[in-house]
Amino acid sequence: MPVLVAHQLERSLGTGDSRVKALRGVSLSIEPGRTYAIAGHSGSGKSTLLYLLGLLDLPDAGTLSIQGSATHDLDDAARTALRNEHMGFVFQFHFLLKEFTALENVMLPMRKLGRLNVDSMRDKAAGLLAAVGLADKAARLGNQLSGGEQQRVAIARALANDPALILADEPTGNLDQANADRVFSLLQEIAHTRGQALLMVSHNPELAKRCDQVFHMKDGLLLP
Ligand SMILES: Nc1ncnc2c1ncn2[C@@H]1O[C@H](COP(=O)(O)OP(=O)(O)OP(=O)(O)O)[C@@H](O)[C@H]1O
Ligand SMILES: [Mg+2]
Repeated sequence: MPVLVAHQLERSLGTGDSRVKALRGVSLSIEPGRTYAIAGHSGSGKSTLLYLLGLLDLPDAGTLSIQGSATHDLDDAARTALRNEHMGFVFQFHFLLKEFTALENVMLPMRKLGRLNVDSMRDKAAGLLAAVGLADKAARLGNQLSGGEQQRVAIARALANDPALILADEPTGNLDQANADRVFSLLQEIAHTRGQALLMVSHNPELAKRCDQVFHMKDGLLLP
């Protein structure tokens, strides 16, 4: 069963004369254990699509199902619960809680899900931070980390609840080549060995090429 199926998603943004049809009918299917890249020029609708797929925004038309369940008639609370259980999101502009430590930021989704005791959450968060190369920075506050370090904390946080689907908007955008390779390899390994799926917006053609499938986006549509 696909992790996600989207059918003819449409979305307009803005108001009045500046209203833009950002998505004009996007359909795609995401299978477990596979990695997908979305490529396309700035303004082509990549982030808009990711927000819809991540249940952070609602389409004007079209349907979306996650793990076989339709999402259109869910209320906000149910959408949030579905997102927290099945999805990990890495934003283009990562939103860490600056007054919390790196470790606490990674523990946050686990606290929301409430399935582990605090010691297990802490161990798991420490393991994820080690996996992104930040074992020694777990106790740093968010605002005491560099942009690239914050981005890696955001990636560890996205993996916290072993999501069926990882949605990532330029997850390696702030990273140097070595860290970009390392982070991508981690995400790829997680997808291929644990059956989780990765859908990643990337302007980095080398990384996009390493994905199992690349979607090309232009003017709010996926190219065939
Ligand atoms: N809040 C908004 N209000 C009005 N228009 C918006 C808004 N957000 C995005 N848009 C417009 O919608 C279109 C798609 O934007 P989107 O952010 O999805 O592009 P993108 O492909 O992610 O670009 P980038 O590569 O620069 O991140 C663009 O024309 C953009 O100007
Ligand atoms: Mg974008």
